[in-house]
Amino acid sequence: MLVLGIDTSCDDTSVAIVQDSTTLLANVISSQGIHLDYGGVVPELASRAHLTLLLPAIDSALQTTGKRLQDMDAIAVTCGPGLIGSLLIGLSIAKSMAFALKKPLVGVNHIEGHIFAGRLADPDLTPPFVTLIVSGGHTQLVHVRAWGDYDILGRTRDDAAGEAFDKVAKMLDIGFPGGPAIDRLAASGDPARIAFPRAYLDRSRSEFSFSGVKTAVRTYLATRSVDEIAHELPHIAAGFQAAVVDVLVDKTLDAARKMDSRRILLTGGVACNRRLRRQMTEQGAVHGITVTYPPPILCTDNGAMIAAAGSFHFSQGHIAPLSLSADPRAKLTTARPVPR
Ligand code: KG4
Ligand code: ZN
Repeated sequence: MLVLGIDTSCDDTSVAIVQDSTTLLANVISSQGIHLDYGGVVPELASRAHLTLLLPAIDSALQTTGKRLQDMDAIAVTCGPGLIGSLLIGLSIAKSMAFALKKPLVGVNHIEGHIFAGRLADPDLTPPFVTLIVSGGHTQLVHVRAWGDYDILGRTRDDAAGEAFDKVAKMLDIGFPGGPAIDRLAASGDPARIAFPRAYLDRSRSEFSFSGVKTAVRTYLATRSVDEIAHELPHIAAGFQAAVVDVLVDKTLDAARKMDSRRILLTGGVACNRRLRRQMTEQGAVHGITVTYPPPILCTDNGAMIAAAGSFHFSQGHIAPLSLSADPRAKLTTARPVPR
């Protein structure tokens, strides 16, 4: 079974081909450099760039695998959440291909895609497990009861963790996207030198808040001279990163213990963060919990995870009508009631 997956939810144009649900044959990702000058994603520029990058990305994926579009068993596409203009480009092309080739269309939730990146990276990963999906648009804890069957344990009340990384990097003027820049800078800083607040909220709940730590960094910078800031830059990055990572790790381990789960999947762009990977793995081991995370290329947005999730839904008979529409605020839900 061959499934072509398309993701155009934000600023990466990506197309992948997955065979038999878990074998990745091609994963083409065209990152849009155009946003670098603006220090953030400009939605209108993102949709225009998808329009020029998507067809070449499809050609490139086909060329890599030596397959033809006619060989695909289904076309999977992200239909939300994401930027509406960007989603519509991927969806329109996917629908056109499905219609012209008479192939089944499968609509995929982008957040569910991030979960399936875990299955691609480790075919032995089997539910139940707890997953932390942590990216520029989302931060949520989910109990995966079975593939396609989800219990949302909690999410962020305000900023996503990646959004906080990006905004703090902008304040520090160290580049976009901010997460990798802070990760690099923090490597030479002391995480204990500057104590930024950790927002645990109600410790018993799996909810997050990252706007407070962001404001704390802004306040800290406002009370320091330009020279002091330049001198302390690695320590500020390390202190901020440690504050975010501590909360993510503690709340995820709490959730895993509450659900009596011995397995955690860490996924989404922020799951590339080295401190987060290390700390979650080390502290998980203390509690007998195994932590899995996909390689960075499958953590950040990619078509492979959409093709993998699409393969699962296709195998379950979840075919979308050609009237499928984009939903920029789509929530992760269980696709069909699963008999228990
Ligand atoms: O999953 P993704 O590509 O897009 C969304 O679905 O949002 O995640 C992008 C986010 C950005 O906020 C970026 O700064 C963050 O992931 N990110 C990182 C790292 N690499 C990417 N955050 C912290 N440390 C990293 N190494
Ligand atoms: Zn994403």
